[in-house]
Amino acid sequence: MTEIANVRGRRVWDSRGRPTVEAEVQLSDGTMGRAIAPAGASTGSGEAQDKRDGGDAFGGLDVQDAVASVNGEISGALRGCDPRDQAAADRLMIDLDGTPDKGRLGGNALVATSMAVAHAAAASAGLPLWKYLGGDRTDIALPLPEVQIFGGGAHAGRRVDIQDFMVIATGAETYTQALDWTAEVYRAAGVLMQDAGLMQGVADEGGFWPAFDTNELALDYLVRAIERAGFTPGDEMAISLDIAATDFGSGGRYRLATDARDVDSDALSEMLLGWLDRYPIVAIEDPLGEDDPAAMARFTAAAGPNVEIVADDFICTSAHLIEAAHAGNACNTALIKPNQAGTLTEAKAALDAARVSGWDAIVSARSGETEDVTIVHLAVGWGVKQLKVGSFARSERMAKWNEGLRIGEALGDDRLPPRQSFPWGD
Ligand code: PGA
Ligand code: ZN
Repeated sequence: MTEIANVRGRRVWDSRGRPTVEAEVQLSDGTMGRAIAPAGASTGSGEAQDKRDGGDAFGGLDVQDAVASVNGEISGALRGCDPRDQAAADRLMIDLDGTPDKGRLGGNALVATSMAVAHAAAASAGLPLWKYLGGDRTDIALPLPEVQIFGGGAHAGRRVDIQDFMVIATGAETYTQALDWTAEVYRAAGVLMQDAGLMQGVADEGGFWPAFDTNELALDYLVRAIERAGFTPGDEMAISLDIAATDFGSGGRYRLATDARDVDSDALSEMLLGWLDRYPIVAIEDPLGEDDPAAMARFTAAAGPNVEIVADDFICTSAHLIEAAHAGNACNTALIKPNQAGTLTEAKAALDAARVSGWDAIVSARSGETEDVTIVHLAVGWGVKQLKVGSFARSERMAKWNEGLRIGEALGDDRLPPRQSFPWGD
């Protein structure tokens, strides 16, 4: 039997120039898998905790302890394991860590190793990861991209309150076409910003810096960019927002600093429902805070079934938080970020819980990313219909979009899931 011969950790650097953990799983047959942990900025409280060293170096963000865990305890525990038994490998690491939030060994150490185990198993089988995970499924499709045009919130120094102003090529038939259209909208948005004297570079995920005086102005510019690029807003190119409300509110009170307004849950909901009426928005993420489930349920009911109400901080890629949200009628779509869960097995369990709940799902990157493209393979292999990896600039983002092109080519078909399979396609 091919077994795990060694696990090696090393410190590498992420897209914000911060240290992160890379793991390499070496197998007895000479094959190897490698993966890098990403890092969030607008994190939910239920996420697996990264291990950071503290102290003076790199703002306290060094990961020497987490790397030492990979090279020491984790490698020791996984040696001799079957790399194809992802669940067993992940269970071993979870038990070894022994804490509810993976804070002892570090969520960053665990997720990098967990993903590297999957890559090693796929390499040993002589398959790309998406194919290894997809098994004999014949309905494999490329995911529909959700792409940031303006960054905001915690990714842009809180220049505007809302975190992600994104587009979804709802009218595109293929993955290639979706990227082509998105590239035109991104370019048009840049020209508009330049012409208006608002161009100030890009935010953490590559979206243009949101030099707007109100949150709503970003929406106006988004519609104008779609039109300028020659597309029909709502029909061909629709809008998606990540409000990331946990970042600017708690206890049912929210501070909209850009608009100089303090609002309660109902007033925030009303503002967002007004946007749903006036703009071609098909998805809205974390519209209310993670501690505001009753308001989230009211918002979900008011928004109706044709809009994706996406839970990110609200569910933190946790099966039991998804089950609770579903029981409380809050949200209808799960954002799946492997590092929020800490292992691939738990991220997949969250996806399964979403599916049992009748929810849609989106595989997502973090604001701190690298050249690692594992999540693209997860989206394809797990049959997830949507993919969110940030904007259409910066190589840690483009690496993911480009990997999707390669997978489409290998599949011989880069068709997207049918429009009717999305809530807005009815
Ligand atoms: P994060 O942002 O990685 O900073 O959490 C992404 C998101 O909120 O979806
Ligand atoms: Zn989010």
